[in-house]
Amino acid sequence: MLSPQFLVIEGLDGSGGTTQVARLADWLRSDRGVEVLCTNEPSNGPVGRFVRRSLNPASSEGRLGDGVLPYLFAADRRDHLDRVVLPALERPNSWVLSDRYYHSSLAYQSLSIGLPAVAQLNAPFRAPDLTVMIDLEPEVCLERIAQRGGVRERFEALDRLRTIRDAYEDVIEHCRTRGETIHRVSGDGDIEAVADRIRDVVSRWMEDRP
Ligand code: TYD
Repeated sequence: MLSPQFLVIEGLDGSGGTTQVARLADWLRSDRGVEVLCTNEPSNGPVGRFVRRSLNPASSEGRLGDGVLPYLFAADRRDHLDRVVLPALERPNSWVLSDRYYHSSLAYQSLSIGLPAVAQLNAPFRAPDLTVMIDLEPEVCLERIAQRGGVRERFEALDRLRTIRDAYEDVIEHCRTRGETIHRVSGDGDIEAVADRIRDVVSRWMEDRP
């Protein structure tokens, strides 16, 4: 029986993370016989719901300053870990697959308080066993965001996406230095092509596990 594993999918807004989490979970269940819990951050818990509202500039919480968000995301993460992720990882053969985790904070919130401060805030949280970073040009991300419509959150303008992409580079380096396994996958092409690449990475990673 496979021991519980914690996997994370990361990437810019519009890079396809939410879709790919579902695809990967389907494959892990049907092909690998793993029980998978799919989850996401901001979480669906009380802090996460508040964070989502505060990301919408039209809401009253939208007036919260950027300096507050790193603490809110960290509080949501603590709640998400304690309520959802860690209990699931206690069950045999149960994997957790999260759409975003602290890498998002290390990238997005580093813009307001700097990487060292965000890293310090997030240092107590359990590292994932594997992170897959979906890499896609900010221009393509924006096109996809425009196609799906809906409310634009404050992070979604092109310049912002470019800056966050650069920040993700530092995050990858930071996390790898700390011994984390992070694989990049190109987000170009259709959903199935990207899903294939991710399955490939996860397959190979599983083979290399002791
Ligand atoms: P996202 O998962 O993209 O929401 P949705 O699926 O509704 O599009 O996350 C919402 C935004 O929150 C996104 O712009 C990234 C940002 N974010 C952070 O800035 N820091 C974090 O720690 C997390 C988890 C998300």
